[in-house]
Amino acid sequence: MSEKNSSEKARNIVLVSTDGELINLARGAIASGDKETLTIIQKPIGEVISSVRDMDAQILVLDMDASVVAEFEHLQKIKRMAPKNTPIIVISHAFSPAAARIFIQLKVADFLVKPVQTSDLVRACNNSVKANTEEAQVDPQFLCFMPASGGVGTTTVALEAASILNTHGQKLGRSTCVVDLNFQHGSCAEYLDIEPRFDISEIENAPERLDRQLLDVMLSKHQSGLSVISAPNQPSEMRTFKPALVVRLLDLVSAYFDNVVIDLPRIWFPWTQTVVAGSDRLFLVADMTVPSIRHSKRLIEAIEEKIGKQSAPQVIVNRMDMRNNNPAGLNAKDVEDALEGYFAGGIPNNYGLVRSAVDRGMTLQAIESNNNVTEALSGIILENEEQNEIRSINEKAGGLLSIGKQLFKRKAG
Ligand SMILES: Nc1ncnc2c1ncn2[C@@H]1O[C@H](COP(=O)(O)OP(=O)(O)OP(=O)(O)O)[C@@H](O)[C@H]1O
Ligand SMILES: [Mg+2]
Repeated sequence: MSEKNSSEKARNIVLVSTDGELINLARGAIASGDKETLTIIQKPIGEVISSVRDMDAQILVLDMDASVVAEFEHLQKIKRMAPKNTPIIVISHAFSPAAARIFIQLKVADFLVKPVQTSDLVRACNNSVKANTEEAQVDPQFLCFMPASGGVGTTTVALEAASILNTHGQKLGRSTCVVDLNFQHGSCAEYLDIEPRFDISEIENAPERLDRQLLDVMLSKHQSGLSVISAPNQPSEMRTFKPALVVRLLDLVSAYFDNVVIDLPRIWFPWTQTVVAGSDRLFLVADMTVPSIRHSKRLIEAIEEKIGKQSAPQVIVNRMDMRNNNPAGLNAKDVEDALEGYFAGGIPNNYGLVRSAVDRGMTLQAIESNNNVTEALSGIILENEEQNEIRSINEKAGGLLSIGKQLFKRKAG
């Protein structure tokens, strides 16, 4: 998959390591092909100093022991021998503030702490060659959409949110992927009229097999440019999936996409907490009924109890009637009051448009560019985008790129 590098010519990434686990991870993360090649040199870094010039490396990844002084001497020599401006990424099992200072002095492009995640390695490589360009990758944004009740429009809202991010992100060179975690009967692929290609049975007992190449095969692409991970429906099978599979999938997806939109099932699975804790923005989708608002309040309580207040759930009320003089049911104000502090916004009822979109496999904004659903949702979704852009500019200006962010793992704990 080359969401990030489609315009570049093949680059040679050279990994110097004797660590079998790291080598396997790199093989899964960097598929040798037209766009890039991975060369593995199974030696300690002290043994490659004299051959550095001949490696033809566009990126050097060095696995070293940052607690050993001699290793820094090797690193310094490699840095001197390597062609000018070859980015060097250092990987170590531990590093101290003193080691970090030396890396900065030596102008190392990035350093990662073991155990390294696929997403860290891929991002470090991409950013090391783009460090001085506008294209440097920012941390992926995970947006989770969770139903407060069934049938309230979670999939509709998640897909349109992804479409908004996709349209907005394309101008900035950012890619968006939808992950349908309703493994049993998801409808993302159906709504977009694309073939669901995520074959879980192939990997459910060996999540480590899921690598870049396999993910490539299992991705579906919508005409709007959105990428979608969605499994074929299994209506008659009750299956559970190991948390390791879901974490592996999201780690990989976060390596290759900037925005990840997740359509969560209503059932709380053993992996739900991990996904929710790892998300940057968590939206509960409810409709404008007393039971649905009550469900969302209970869900907020449960999430805050399990994950803490930092999970910051927000409720989107779908098919919301904005009137305050509704004789037959809830008024807009009742809903806002009931959800005080958690209300993200309301989405208007527009059945004709939504039905037309699903029947034609299109996004709402592709059917009608200025529709009221997309407009209301844009206000909610793009609220933080300006801050994100300022943050990304600050990160690019910050010299060292990502200090072993291990994003998904760290956040999900
Ligand atoms: N804003 C809206 N206006 C009108 N109709 C809507 C709106 N949002 C969703 N719908 C309709 O509501 C129905 C349910 O939508 P959707 O499948 O997105 O819900 P869901 O919460 O994902 O359902 P499930 O619980 O089956 O996963 C669909 O018929 C859809 O067209
Ligand atoms: Mg759904």
